[in-house]
Amino acid sequence: MTVCPQSFRKTLGHYPTGVSVISGIARSGLPCGMAIGSFTSVSLDPPLVAFCPQKNSASWRMIESSGRFCVNVLAADQADICRHFASRIERKFDAIAFEHSGGALPVLPGAILWIECELYATYDAGDHDLVLGRVVEMEVKRDAPPLIFCRGEYGRFAAAA
Ligand SMILES: Cc1cc2nc3c(=O)[nH]c(=O)nc-3n(C[C@H](O)[C@H](O)[C@H](O)COP(=O)(O)O)c2cc1C
Repeated sequence: MTVCPQSFRKTLGHYPTGVSVISGIARSGLPCGMAIGSFTSVSLDPPLVAFCPQKNSASWRMIESSGRFCVNVLAADQADICRHFASRIERKFDAIAFEHSGGALPVLPGAILWIECELYATYDAGDHDLVLGRVVEMEVKRDAPPLIFCRGEYGRFAAAA
């Protein structure tokens, strides 16, 4: 069976994900960010998380060069923030107020939590990379339902009855 990109996308789109913004500071000092659905936890010892940036992501190239990134897990009322950070515009943080993590990386107000990471390893993964981050600091900021993305639509988590 040959797997065409459209059916791959459509089939995998049935799998729901949370949505995060990976933020960081480029070597130039510019704050950068990109929306991702591929975030996952990986290891407790050492504490590792992972996500998959597209090879052509301008934001990730800038963040990667600093060797550090921050995961901002979005709340259900932050679909507009997700759309903003999924765009390819330059200087995305010019239009967005932000705070700072312990290590001075950009943190989005309204996000449920942030996880600050050091770049641990990067693996080639086709048209994406697989990035592992070692967690250095984290904070839960808000008791709110997470933003969920499934079948091309945004929604919110609700506990099953
Ligand atoms: C819900 C959602 C999930 C996404 N997940 C990813 C992802 O896991 N990896 C990725 O590279 N891009 C993902 N994207 C697309 C990126 O947000 C987008 O291509 C990128 O931010 C473009 O800007 P950049 O070139 O500045 O990085 C996702 C977009 C949306 C809306």
